Amino acid sequence: MITKRHVLQLAIAALTTACAVTAFAADTSPIKIGLILPMTGQSASTGRQIDAAVKLWMAQNGNKVAGRSIEVILKDDGAVPDATKRIAQELIVNDKVSVIAGFGITPTALATAPLATQSKTPLVVMAAATSSITEASPYIIRTSFTLPQVTIGIADWAAKNKIKKAVTLVADYGPGFDAEKYFDSQFRLNGGQILDKLRTPLRSPDFAPVLQKVLDAKPDALFVFLPSGQGAAFMKQFAERGLDKSGVKLIATGDVTDDDQLNDMGDVALGVVNSHHYSAAHPSATNKKFVDAFQAANKFRPNFMAVGGYDGMRVIYKALEATKGAGGDALLAAMKGQIFESPRGPVLIDGQTRDIVQDVYIRKVERVPAMGNGLYNVEFDVIKGVKDPGKLK
Ligand code: PHB
Repeated sequence: MITKRHVLQLAIAALTTACAVTAFAADTSPIKIGLILPMTGQSASTGRQIDAAVKLWMAQNGNKVAGRSIEVILKDDGAVPDATKRIAQELIVNDKVSVIAGFGITPTALATAPLATQSKTPLVVMAAATSSITEASPYIIRTSFTLPQVTIGIADWAAKNKIKKAVTLVADYGPGFDAEKYFDSQFRLNGGQILDKLRTPLRSPDFAPVLQKVLDAKPDALFVFLPSGQGAAFMKQFAERGLDKSGVKLIATGDVTDDDQLNDMGDVALGVVNSHHYSAAHPSATNKKFVDAFQAANKFRPNFMAVGGYDGMRVIYKALEATKGAGGDALLAAMKGQIFESPRGPVLIDGQTRDIVQDVYIRKVERVPAMGNGLYNVEFDVIKGVKDPGKLK
């Protein structure tokens, strides 16, 4: 005889099975990460570095989080903002990605920010470095750096090291404006004088005319910011125009003495003092492990872009673990406040600004016999726990 109790038991059993099936189905669907990078064009080295770092992170940490597989969808935007925006839209609407990440140059991040806000999709900036980017959407988290953050240190160093008159030279767009502004104000605060402010176009710059102006102005130092990928061409012209023998000291942000190109720059780079947040020669066990594994997998040296990508994956993985795979606001919240040991040193994702807080190093380019006699940025001073000065208004 079938009693009421039997019916109830059957109903509960059926419900439990249904729940289990639903839970099981939810558990196995892959979590998708849209990775938008310049794999072609002038910024292709940034794409190559970050793509390699993302692959290394996954090789070391597996492709499963919270029992679900992670699928990275890599798209090339050629560093063209309209393309970035279109690709991001497709990734969000069609592929239903939980995160969009990458962003090789500032204009591509700014073009995509409104989409992150509208769709409540966390956007992880792994490369671009204009201070204001994180203010363009409350869904933006940054694991790279900001130009004000790395510029203050070299301006202080210059003023303390007998440099009284300087000329600035920057790429003519967002991060260049930040570098110019923060070098100018910090250097003058320390009693320095700026003789001229020069800019070169982001696309296909010719450094000859500005270098002639530097020769004519005869400053004690030339401060330079150029985006990753332009350093080697600049150094070549610097030497060809005789600037290296002119008595004008070259100082820079580490974007110019980029580990991706540094070893091929030759002796002209020797002695260039610069400030930045990452050197492949950073003396920590975490970094040595990272560099060795990266080089074994890729046959080239990781630069600061690679570290931005590697740490970006760390932030995404740990946040997904915390939300058990959920996206949107929960995922964003879990990205904020993460503290960890990066290959660059200790870092924090500031919960308020969503920007990275990190140590900034003063370095000098040297040949390092213990590292195959290669050219490296050798750290000799550190400014601990630097917040983006652009946010300290
Ligand atoms: C940027 O466009 O924000 C950018 C690109 C390359 C750099 C620094 C900043 O090295």
